Amino acid sequence: MRMRNKQRKPTTLHCNAGSRCTLSAVVWSLVGCILILHLYSLVHQSDGNERDIQERLNHLQLSRELEEVEEDNDFQIPPPRGKRSPRAVKRRPKRATSLIEEFLDESSQFKHLFFPDKRTAMDPRKEVEDDNHYFYPGRIWLDTDGNPIQAHGGGILYVEKSGTYYWYGENKDGPTYHAHKKGAARVDIIGVSCYSSKDLWTWKYEGIVLAGEEQNETHDLHKSNVLERPKVIYNEKTGKYVMWMHIDDVNYTKASVGVAVSNSPIGPFEYLYSMQPHGFDSRDMTIFKDDDGVAYLVYSSEDNSELHIGPLTDDYFDVTHIMRRILVGKHREAPAIFKYDGTYYMVTSGCTGWAPNRALAHAAESIMGPWETMGNPCVGGNEVLRQTTFFAQSTFVLPLPGLPGSFIFMADRWSSADLRESRYVWLPLAVGGAADQPLEYNFGFPLWSRVSIYWHRKWKLPDHWKGI
Ligand code: DGJ
Repeated sequence: MRMRNKQRKPTTLHCNAGSRCTLSAVVWSLVGCILILHLYSLVHQSDGNERDIQERLNHLQLSRELEEVEEDNDFQIPPPRGKRSPRAVKRRPKRATSLIEEFLDESSQFKHLFFPDKRTAMDPRKEVEDDNHYFYPGRIWLDTDGNPIQAHGGGILYVEKSGTYYWYGENKDGPTYHAHKKGAARVDIIGVSCYSSKDLWTWKYEGIVLAGEEQNETHDLHKSNVLERPKVIYNEKTGKYVMWMHIDDVNYTKASVGVAVSNSPIGPFEYLYSMQPHGFDSRDMTIFKDDDGVAYLVYSSEDNSELHIGPLTDDYFDVTHIMRRILVGKHREAPAIFKYDGTYYMVTSGCTGWAPNRALAHAAESIMGPWETMGNPCVGGNEVLRQTTFFAQSTFVLPLPGLPGSFIFMADRWSSADLRESRYVWLPLAVGGAADQPLEYNFGFPLWSRVSIYWHRKWKLPDHWKGI
C-alpha cells in the first residue's frame, strides 16, 4: 500500500510535478516552436526579400541598360550651303535648321548619315557575334529572306499564347511620285505587310495581308489612293483580328478610317468599309486596346488642329457615339498611345508632312481626357536629334512583356524623295521621374511621370529579357 502509496504519491507527485513539468515543457516547447517558426519565417521572409531585392536590382539593371544616354556628334549642323536640290521637300517645319534641310535634300552630302547604305544593314541571316540582336536606328533592316522590311507607319500585335509579335505596316515598295505639282510625295497602295518574330529583331515576312486594288478605281484600296498607319488588335469576344487604318484619296480630302477583319493574325484580311468617324475628318490615327478589353480610336481631326478619341463598339468594327476632343488647337498627328501604372501616355508629332519635327509626350488619368502635354520626350543625341525626334515620326509604342515601365518607341524616318527607302527608328522608352514642363492645370506641381525616349546609335534588349 505504502509502496502503492509511495508509488502513487510520486506518481501523483510526478503527476503533479509532471503536470507542472509537462506544462512548463509544453510552454517551453511552444515557445521553442514559436521561436523556430519565427526564425524560419524570418529566414524565409529574408529569402523572399532578398529575392525581391534581387529581382528589383535585376530589373533596375535591365532598365539602366535601356536608358543609357548617348551623345552623338555625327549629326552636326553643317555650314549653310548655297545650292539646294529643287526636289527638296517643300513643306518644312517653321524653324528649319540647316540639318533638317540637308535631311530633306536627296542629293545631300550627309545622306549616308540619315540613310546608311546596304553594307551596314541589320541582317538576321548573318551570325555576326558583335552585331547580333543590336538595333541600329536608321539602318536598312532585312527580314529573314534578306529583303528590306516594308512595314512603315506600323504597329505591333503581341499574341501571348504563341509568344509571337506581328508587325503590320505600309508596304511602300513602289516608285515615289507627285500626283500633282503641289501634292505630297506618294507611292501607290501596295497593301499592308505583316512580319512575325519571337525576339523583335528577327522578322519573317508573312506576306501582304491586306492587298491594294489594281483594277476597281472606285475601291478605297485602289492603288491611286492612300492607305496609312495600319494597326491590328485582337477581339477576345469574337475571336477576330481587326485592322484599322487611315484611308484617303490622293489629295487627302477623303480623310477617313478603314476597317478590315481576319480570322488569323497573318491574314488574309477582308476589307469592310471606310467612314468618317463621328462625322469628322480623320487623318493620322491609331487604335488602343485597354486592359478591360475596350478599344479606342484616336485620330487627327478638324484639319489636324486637334485629336478626337472615342471607344469602339464591342466587336471593334465601328466607333460608338461617344467622342471627346483632346489637345484642341495643338496641331498634333502620328499618335502612339500606351499605358503604365494606371496612367495613359501618348507621343505625338507636329504636322509637317514627311519632314521630321519635335515630338511631344502627353499624359491622362482617363483615356478620354483631359490630356496634358509634358514636353519633348527625346533624350540624348544632340539638340538637332532631340528637336527632330531623331529625324523620325512616332507610329507605335510597344510594351515589353516582363519589363514593366520599359517600352520600345517605334518611329519612321521618312525618305520623302524615295519613300520605300524610309527607315525605322526603334528606341527604348521609359516612364519615370518628374515631367520637365509645367503643366496647364496643376499649379506648377508635376503630376505625371516623365516619358523618356533614349537615343542610341546601337542598342539591344537586355540578354535576360524573355524574348531572346
Ligand atoms: C504625315 C503623316 O504622319 C504621314 O502618315 C503621312 O500622312 C504624311 N504626313 C504625308 O505627307
